[in-house]
Amino acid sequence: MNNPRLTLALDGDGALPPAGRILVIGARGDDYLDILPKERVTVVQGFRPDHDALATRGWRVVPDADDAGADFAAALILLPRSRSQSRGWVAAASHLVAPRGPVWIDGQKTDGVETMLKDIRARLPIAASLSKAHGRIFRFDADPVFDDWREDVFHPAPGFITRPGVFSAEKVDPGSALLAAALPENLTGRVADLGSGWGWLAARILERFGVTELHMIEADYAAHLCAQHNIADYRARFHWADATQFRSESKFDAVVSNPPFHSGRAAEPALGVAFIAAAAGMLTQSGRFFMVANRHLPYEAALARHFGDVREIGGDGAFKLIAASRPSTARPAR
Ligand SMILES: C[S@@+](CC[C@H](N)C(=O)[O-])C[C@H]1O[C@@H](n2cnc3c(N)ncnc32)[C@H](O)[C@@H]1O
Repeated sequence: MNNPRLTLALDGDGALPPAGRILVIGARGDDYLDILPKERVTVVQGFRPDHDALATRGWRVVPDADDAGADFAAALILLPRSRSQSRGWVAAASHLVAPRGPVWIDGQKTDGVETMLKDIRARLPIAASLSKAHGRIFRFDADPVFDDWREDVFHPAPGFITRPGVFSAEKVDPGSALLAAALPENLTGRVADLGSGWGWLAARILERFGVTELHMIEADYAAHLCAQHNIADYRARFHWADATQFRSESKFDAVVSNPPFHSGRAAEPALGVAFIAAAAGMLTQSGRFFMVANRHLPYEAALARHFGDVREIGGDGAFKLIAASRPSTARPAR
């Protein structure tokens, strides 16, 4: 996606040092970054579809700032929506960029860029700033004065940790809680959890002793790392992967999912539909699919297309719980 602010701010002399590595945090798969010298750039992107799209376009991409290395000459942060995640990225960049190297911050007003400008200006001088296209880009010179902004760790339930930016980081999602309460006790065999997040629903699935393997498929690297910390069970398998592209060596006896329903701000039922299709393709002929969805989301046609038997097994005013069987799309196992 084109961003006129990057071109205006970074094209001029002196915006970036003439040599040295450049750290970019938060670029999405289709973001236009061609203003940057590709051979000097390392992008931090932990969301697997965006990570893979950037890598396909030839960018060097790592899933976490801890994997980026150090001694960067400059950084560009593309602000996420979560304020504490944004602050964590500023703290990380302030350490990874050499002292006084430029740190550029770009964001939409709706993602809190003005608040971020105000918060940084309270600690350091702002070297440049430009407002355009409902957002702002500004620059400060790296200085490790943001250590108190390092990412918090949350404890959304006893025994679980999460990080800013992961889905439902501070409390158990009510949809997952409803689905967990409705799952049959007789779940058995190989089970997959599509979009397993930080692992709360997965932990409930693992309370069923008939489950022999639980494959936790999650695209957000931070959530995937939290899940690895949260779930200590020999039956758990952790996959940092796009559930809609996932290929298993053999089919599953059950798939459970609380699928994502938006990317960015807009509701995108297409994502849930892709999860439904993926679930059908992963199941054995006798396999069962259990999902929770916001009641207003139109998944009925997709469910009917991919399953011979679809039943609503409960829910409330906000969520519906679905059990589906007789998958009709037989996607070959790898
Ligand atoms: C509604 S949340 C459910 C999380 C978790 N099951 C729970 O109980 O908290 C959906 C999850 O799907 C993940 N996700 C989004 N797109 C994905 C994709 N293409 N492949 C795998 N996971 C994805 C999100 O990061 C999020 O953790």
